[in-house]
Amino acid sequence: MATISNFNFAGKKAIVRVDFNVPLDENGKITDDTRIRGALPTLKKILADGGSLIIMSHMGKPKGKVNAKLSLGQIVDAVSAALGTKVQFASDCAKAKAQADALKPGEVLMLENLRFYAEEEGKPVGIDKEDPKYDEAKKAMKAAQKEFAKTLASYADCYVMDAFGTAHRKHASTAVIADYFDADNKMLGLLMEKEVNAVDNVLNNIQRPFVAVMGGSKVSSKIGIIENLLGKVDKLILCGGMTYTFTKAHGGEIGGSIVELDKLDVALDVEKKAKENGVELVLGNDSVCSNGYDFGTFSVKEGAKIEVFKSSEIPAEFEGLDAGPESRKKFAAAIKGAKTILWNGPAGCFECDDFCAGSRAVGEAIAEATKEGAFSLIGGGDSVACCTKFGLTDKVSYISTGGGALLEAIEGKVLPGVAAIKGE
Ligand code: 3PG
Repeated sequence: MATISNFNFAGKKAIVRVDFNVPLDENGKITDDTRIRGALPTLKKILADGGSLIIMSHMGKPKGKVNAKLSLGQIVDAVSAALGTKVQFASDCAKAKAQADALKPGEVLMLENLRFYAEEEGKPVGIDKEDPKYDEAKKAMKAAQKEFAKTLASYADCYVMDAFGTAHRKHASTAVIADYFDADNKMLGLLMEKEVNAVDNVLNNIQRPFVAVMGGSKVSSKIGIIENLLGKVDKLILCGGMTYTFTKAHGGEIGGSIVELDKLDVALDVEKKAKENGVELVLGNDSVCSNGYDFGTFSVKEGAKIEVFKSSEIPAEFEGLDAGPESRKKFAAAIKGAKTILWNGPAGCFECDDFCAGSRAVGEAIAEATKEGAFSLIGGGDSVACCTKFGLTDKVSYISTGGGALLEAIEGKVLPGVAAIKGE
């Protein structure tokens, strides 16, 4: 099997799937270029070898329709600047053969948003799942997806999969395309290798104690990963809005805090499984609350109060928005001394300075443990944003570019983008 480090791209055309699904402001300017920077080592290696480069990505969810607001044309200049060489643009990703053929060594072509074609995702559009003709439409779309992948493959001699953020999707460009290259001419990119190794460090190559911090608003969206981690970690810190479901499950008064009333049994089950597995479950016991928080503007309304209450004694008109001072101490103490750390999901509404102390305490404790030799993996947009906000990005071991892909990898699922290359 080929690996990117051993492959010599001299004189070859390489088609590289990256994840340039980067956030843009209202003027189409990139607000966070982490994913572009993440792909650079692979792209530069291909050019340095003397290869030519065809870059492909999706942006947003255009669902098979051309949408100027999601055109990758908006980021061509930024990619040129990052690569230090001019990037040509193919305004129709399925009709770029002539442009690809004309590429000389060292030249770069970027394709328009792959998802302007429904074939990329391979899901039938405009037909309901209940429709009797759905199965037929699905079959036709799968055949069309293969043709689309074959067209993309025809542009190049070799294929590199470096889109970790999209590796959990079995799409034409992330997985199906690999069928059109033999094992010696398809490989994972350097970013994929780094991400896969980082996940391996927290799933298989664990240095103990292993502490995971899971935050965010809903236990339902994290239950898969929590269940997998319960078989691996020594301590599991649960923080953020999801913990009010746990408090409620024990009959606590949580005021107007976010809660999933249909998941109380799930919360109790997590506690039971933690006990069975000998995992120390760490939950906060106090909360910073407000009776007037505006989630739209991330601010406390004029005249509203901010107070600390026990998490099980929150008055009806208040809601919990951050971990309280005792909880913060508990979290920091649980992280101290860890040798492997995973953090996904904030401890409160960190976007507002009044409610970011919990996430800051978690981030700073992780940075401290990392300084003492721990391996720390941070993933998910909000935890990464916390690290940026608190100036901790270079004080943790690894920041993942994946959101959903990282969660699925940590749940223990084989990512289709990895399987397509490794043949699993
Ligand atoms: C992401 O931002 O998580 C990736 O680019 C994947 O995007 P998707 O969820 O639209 O497939």
